[in-house]
Formats: sequence, C-alpha cells, structure tokens
Amino acid sequence: MIAGVEKDKNSSAELISQIEVENLALKYDHSPEIAYPNFTINEGEKVLLTGDSGTGKSTLLKAILGEIIYKNDVGDQITRDLKQIGYLAQDPKLFPGTIADNIVMLHHELYAKIPQLLNKVQLEADVMRFPAGVETVVDLDQDNLSGGQRQKVILAREEVFYNNFVLMDEATGAIDSKAPKKIIEYLVSTDKNIVLIAHNFDERITGLFDREIQLTGRSSLTLSCFYFLFSKFHSKIISFHV
Ligand SMILES: Nc1ncnc2c1ncn2[C@@H]1O[C@H](COP(=O)(O)OP(=O)(O)OP(=O)(O)O)[C@@H](O)[C@H]1O
Ligand SMILES: [Mg+2]
Repeated sequence: MIAGVEKDKNSSAELISQIEVENLALKYDHSPEIAYPNFTINEGEKVLLTGDSGTGKSTLLKAILGEIIYKNDVGDQITRDLKQIGYLAQDPKLFPGTIADNIVMLHHELYAKIPQLLNKVQLEADVMRFPAGVETVVDLDQDNLSGGQRQKVILAREEVFYNNFVLMDEATGAIDSKAPKKIIEYLVSTDKNIVLIAHNFDERITGLFDREIQLTGRSSLTLSCFYFLFSKFHSKIISFHV
C-alpha cells in the first residue's frame, strides 16, 4: 500500500509521500515464497535495505513498482503514477551515445545541468580523464566505462528527472571506496524518499540512513522467516515468522 498525498505545486497530480507494505508475500514459479515484514516508509525517510543474496531485496523494489495499492492521506485509493517513482535497477543499461546523452536522455535543453550533476555523483574526475569529456561515446562492446563509472552515469540520469520517491538497487556497489559516502551524503540531504539496497556499507554510511530493513531469509519450500531491523535510532528488533 502506498499512502500519503500532497498536491504538486505545479500540477494537479497527487504526490506519493509514504509507502506501507502489509502482508506482502510473493512467489516466483519454481521458487519458495518470499514473505515480507509489514513496514511503513514515511515521508522523506531514507531507508537502507540489506540482506543476503536471494533474500528478496530486488523483488521487493519490483513489487513496490507494480503490485501494491496506492492510497492518499484520507485512505482513498489513488491512481498510481509510476512516473513519480525513480527506479535504478540492479543491472542498469547505458545506450551507445555520449556520456552526456546517457545522462540527459536526449533532452538537450538539460545539457547546462550536466556539470552540476557530475559533481553530485562524483563523476567529474572520471570524465576529465577522457579526452572527449562528457562527449565520450559509450562503447558497449569495448566497455570503455568501468562498472562504477556506469553506475555514476545512471545516478546522474536519475538526478535529471526529479522524483520524490527513489528506489535504488545496488546503485553504488561498483563504485570505489570514498565516492559512495559522498554520493549518499548528498542523497540523504535531499527531501526525497529513498530506499536503497546495498551490501557491505560500513557504519559511517549506514549511520547516514534513518533506518535499515534487513531481510534474513531461511527459505524452505513453504517457510520463510524475516527480521525487520531498526537502526541505531530504534534499537528494537522485531521478528516476523510466516
Ligand atoms: N525472475 C525470476 N524467476 C524465478 N525466480 C526468481 C526470479 N527473480 C528472482 N528469483 C528468486 O527469488 C529470490 C529473490 O531474488 P532477488 O533477486 O529478489 O534477491 P536479492 O535479495 O535481490 O539478491 P541479490 O543480493 O543477489 O541481488 C531468489 O531465490 C531468486 O532465485
Ligand atoms: Mg538483487
């Protein structure tokens, strides 16, 4: 369930401001059921979603994008406007254009924003090393951009299209040691709702989030068990058995 609504200043569209997941259990063909804890993500909250491989993190983001009911602040169901939700998939794709085109997605009127975007996602130094800078053509065969550089391009692309709700699946996993902290510091300073999946963040980075939801799956064919872990702000652990 997604709830909470504000009026967008510039349009009559209702803005999603809260997410509530209740009694959510999903099952792929030939895989065990994945049962999720009930939880709410409040307006502006930054949530870190962690858990071992295969516990259902990516599946949860996909479910939020497609399987849930959206409600406004008085409980009425609203038509979901998925354009409001930014989604960075675990295996994001670039297209064989320039770095600049990959960021602004051919919206040429946005070119002037590129220097600012490069700075926000720590991509400036990488781009300066390419002789053609942001006009460097992404070569999908030669892999002329590293995995981390590709992730930064995708993050910059997300910044172009302002979404107040952003779901990020391993958005910084391939980026070197210092940049993720700076990127996350920027993201948590915004008003956005953010759910970010990550492995292996150290405490300096996990501490930047309002909350951590940790999925711990011990799946059998019919049984899944998850723990919903609150961060240092709520030293309470609630366990869920399905
Ligand atoms: N398209 C699919 N068809 C069938 N089973 C799937 C499919 N996608 C995922 N699964 C299964 O669902 C479970 C959860 O997968 P999911 O991708 O959500 O895990 P994850 O927590 O994101 O893992 P990782 O950290 O490795 O990315 C896994 O057991 C996986 O095998
Ligand atoms: Mg995943």
